[in-house]
Amino acid sequence: MSERVVIITGGAAGIGWATAQRFAADGCRVVIADLTGADEAAARLGAGHTGVTLDITDAAAVEAMVAGLDRIDVLVNNAGIGDSHLPSLEQDIAQFRKVLDIHVTGAFLVARACARRMIDAGGGAIVNLSSIAGVTGLPRRNAYGAAKAGIAMMTRSLACEWAGVGVRVNAVAPGYARTALVEKLVSEGRIDLDAIQRRVPQGRLIDPSEIAEAIWFLASPAASAITGVTLSVDGGWAAFGDFGDAS
Ligand SMILES: NC(=O)c1ccc[n+]([C@@H]2O[C@H](COP(=O)([O-])OP(=O)(O)OC[C@H]3O[C@@H](n4cnc5c(N)ncnc54)[C@H](O)[C@@H]3O)[C@@H](O)[C@H]2O)c1
Repeated sequence: MSERVVIITGGAAGIGWATAQRFAADGCRVVIADLTGADEAAARLGAGHTGVTLDITDAAAVEAMVAGLDRIDVLVNNAGIGDSHLPSLEQDIAQFRKVLDIHVTGAFLVARACARRMIDAGGGAIVNLSSIAGVTGLPRRNAYGAAKAGIAMMTRSLACEWAGVGVRVNAVAPGYARTALVEKLVSEGRIDLDAIQRRVPQGRLIDPSEIAEAIWFLASPAASAITGVTLSVDGGWAAFGDFGDAS
């Protein structure tokens, strides 16, 4: 399965970096598209991989990246940021809009630009990053939860529209993984990792490499009949009703 060209947005860190390593190990040519650290991450992956420094909400920059590539087989729409975690009555609307803009509008811009090329070439695969926050309601997580639920629905919409032209669109919905995004929330005292692990049926956090494996599978020919799904990679979080004494 070599020589596929795989764009990974936000590929310089965290889940994106684990995913870059997974596709590189499979012989793919990886394009790391990130606000920061793209060239350095591509160099760490080795020869044949490239970095593109861009903001995924910048439509012109996204189009320029796509125009500069000879082919695009896979897009992993992974770039994202956390939300404020403030009580809803104190949430800042500029920050609220920024979270929606990066996760939903940004992911759409990159998917649209890549799909044009994929359709011309006869097909491709897109994997978007949703979250447990898009599946279960979490207090104070308004923008992020809405964005991640929006990504799951956009995944279904695009999958239905592009199924007949060979482009599969799926998503993964990870549970908490210890990346820079989560470390920031821990250091700011906004989340309690012990409490989170107690809530997870497997009793642990998810390793970024486990999310990368699910992304890799959904993008592979082994998933050729799978399109429009959001695959939970969450240690059982979404399956668990958490009834406590009521169960
Ligand atoms: N870590 C978790 O627990 C977790 C759980 C569920 C879903 N997710 C989702 O997985 C994805 C990756 O998260 P992570 O934890 O690896 O985050 P991270 O902060 O470790 O890495 C995110 C990367 O995205 C890049 N990025 C941010 N905004 C960008 C923009 N506008 N344009 C281009 N690049 C941009 C950052 O520079 C960074 O390299 C996100 O979509 C996140 O919402 C994470």
